[in-house]
Amino acid sequence: MKKNNINTGVFQKTKKRIFLSNMIGIYIFMVIFCIFLYFYFRSVTYRGVDDTIRLELTNIIQMGVDGDLANPKEILSTQNMVYIYKDGIGKYYTNNHYFGSNYPDHSEELHGKFKSYKIGQHFFREMNVSSGDYMIQIIRNIDGEINALYQIFYILIGFGIVALLITLIIAFILMKKALEPIEATWNNQVNFIQDTSHELRTPVSVIQSKLEGLLRTPEYSISDRVDDIALAMTETRRINKMIKDMLSLTKEDSIIRINVSEFNLVDLMEDLYESYIEFAEIEEKFLTIENKTNSDILNISTDKSKLRQLLVILLDNAFKYTEKGDEISIILDISQRDRYLIYINDTGIGIAPEDLPYVFDRFFRSDKVRAQDIEGSGIGLSIAKLLSQNISSELSVCSDLGTGSSFKIEIPKSKK
Ligand SMILES: Nc1ncnc2c1ncn2[C@@H]1O[C@H](COP(=O)(O)OP(=O)(O)OP(=O)(O)O)[C@@H](O)[C@H]1O
Ligand SMILES: [Mg+2]
Repeated sequence: MKKNNINTGVFQKTKKRIFLSNMIGIYIFMVIFCIFLYFYFRSVTYRGVDDTIRLELTNIIQMGVDGDLANPKEILSTQNMVYIYKDGIGKYYTNNHYFGSNYPDHSEELHGKFKSYKIGQHFFREMNVSSGDYMIQIIRNIDGEINALYQIFYILIGFGIVALLITLIIAFILMKKALEPIEATWNNQVNFIQDTSHELRTPVSVIQSKLEGLLRTPEYSISDRVDDIALAMTETRRINKMIKDMLSLTKEDSIIRINVSEFNLVDLMEDLYESYIEFAEIEEKFLTIENKTNSDILNISTDKSKLRQLLVILLDNAFKYTEKGDEISIILDISQRDRYLIYINDTGIGIAPEDLPYVFDRFFRSDKVRAQDIEGSGIGLSIAKLLSQNISSELSVCSDLGTGSSFKIEIPKSKK
């Protein structure tokens, strides 16, 4: 049965919303991650510089204790520029090409605190402390460190742009994944409603035309219009059956909830045979049962009532689509290593090759069956398919038009 594609904008809004919220969520996370990374590198870099400055200070102060602070002998790191003042007057400085013999600014407000600044093209970090009459100022050039931080900054900006692209892709994939099952369920529902209304339309319009016919000819008595009334009654019965079938199809709970137990499969098959044999005799059809296990006991674990329901649907069809003198057989086969096979075969009207792919679709009935007005709503096999899936077995069909049909149920042997 042809299924319509019902994607016409129903999900566009939801898609957009999910996509945007996914994207914003992921991107904010990435941006926070980048900011965190940058500040982490920054603090590690400064901590390294500050440690060497602090070490140098301890070293200088130590020299002051041991000798002349105005003439320190040894500087720990040649990158550190040391200036020593007494009463605001410079007493000592290390030679360097940044400040030369000029003493740099030495504000006393920032005692004991680190500060960073830029002079010309160069970056510096400094700290000064007082020790007795002296003030010690230690300055370190941090051009290298600042350049490294700039590089990290630009790399992170670049990463942020690439991340935007990655985020777009991830958000798109996430949105697709999130919506797939919802979309499938939605499409199923819409298809179900479309199929149902389509199927109901024919019997309802037959009833309507028959009733209109009665209204148009009030002079006739009921006995004059028995045929029309009977037809309307048949259509009413058809609608009734359809509604009942549809209800059982939508009560997924009763189909999906499985109740596994161990039981004798041979008993189940013989039970079914017993319940149909009389009917077969009435209809003058030959019902046979063939147990290829050569044993009366074959215990299996599955949902017994669902398997029975499934077999009943197949047997009902077998009787419905056969004629007087035809043969219907129930066959149990265990020759396969990993599965039990049950066949419901008949020598009935068969199914045309072009119809075979659709027999398990909801409401599908072959044209021939519709034309012959054989009762049914085309739901039986779709319920059978659901049932077989829910007891983890496979249901398939082989058929030749005019020769007969063979429905096969494959039940996996439980791995114990
Ligand atoms: N044993 C069979 N032999 C020939 N055709 C069959 C057989 N079983 C099913 N079919 C075809 O498959 C169609 C679908 O079967 P299904 O059991 O789903 O619906 P139905 O028998 O028409 O109605 P109902 O819902 O009452 O069972 C049938 O209408 C028929 O065309
Ligand atoms: Mg049927």
